[in-house]
Amino acid sequence: MADTLLTEGSAAKGKDFSKNRNHAATAPAYFSVWDLHAYYGESYIVQGVSFNVHEGEILALLGRNGAGKTSTLRAIARMDEPMVTHGEIWLDHQHLHDRKSYEAAQLGMALVPEDRCIIQGLTVEENLQLAQIVEPVGWSLERVYELFPRLKERRKQEGTTLSGGEQQMLAIARALVRDIKVLLLDEPYEGLAPVIVDEIEKTLNIIKEQGITTVIVEQNAVRALQLADRAVILDTGSVVYDGTANEVLENEALRNEYLAI
Ligand SMILES: Nc1ncnc2c1ncn2[C@@H]1O[C@H](COP(=O)(O)OP(=O)(O)OP(=O)(O)O)[C@@H](O)[C@H]1O
Ligand SMILES: [Mg+2]
Repeated sequence: MADTLLTEGSAAKGKDFSKNRNHAATAPAYFSVWDLHAYYGESYIVQGVSFNVHEGEILALLGRNGAGKTSTLRAIARMDEPMVTHGEIWLDHQHLHDRKSYEAAQLGMALVPEDRCIIQGLTVEENLQLAQIVEPVGWSLERVYELFPRLKERRKQEGTTLSGGEQQMLAIARALVRDIKVLLLDEPYEGLAPVIVDEIEKTLNIIKEQGITTVIVEQNAVRALQLADRAVILDTGSVVYDGTANEVLENEALRNEYLAI
């Protein structure tokens, strides 16, 4: 039997809950989101999102402004808001839908938010060391410095004084020094010059080679589709496309309708 779904808080909202349904028993995917619904207060934003991601795959989660991409990532990472009222999240046979965000993080979920959240007053190295305080620890500092030589050069510099691209690298590095299975990236290319995007893209491919599964949300949909294996497109909090990234690149009508590109 599957564990009881969701929290008392969400049950109190009186929504429709699925009961005792063990999705993992039937889902072949490594990382599964099934019929996820989430609210900010009374605002119903994530409206039944489902998708599967295989181990080591890169999924591009796309959609127009306000489609619900950030909200979906936050719901998956079990942030307090938006509040999940229904649905299931499974990662490597572990259920996350009834966990707190710190528990989801301990089970391998890492969200790199759009604002990157570099801790003020700490150097690059201190930001990384702080991320390693909680077990389980992932990559060593030496290994992340090998991936991001710029961070090694700047390791004694205060993190918030780095360039935008370097801060994005630090935000990704901070996830890697923990033992993660899934990397959720919200707009990692935002505000970055194409040459820096190239550099980050290269590192995301190396991270993929190490077997880490990635979900990338990007306004720069073409770049994300070029990187990704598969794509899911959201529109008003629901999935309107689930298929290969190439198919989206080749399907102009789909791109026009849901991505405005
Ligand atoms: N804290 C919040 N409280 C209430 N509504 C919110 C909150 N955050 C987002 N929303 C609403 O949820 C909807 C989806 O927002 P979300 O930020 O998830 O979209 P997005 O696809 O990430 O958009 P963007 O491409 O602009 O980042 C929008 O209508 C937005 O106004
Ligand atoms: Mg967003």
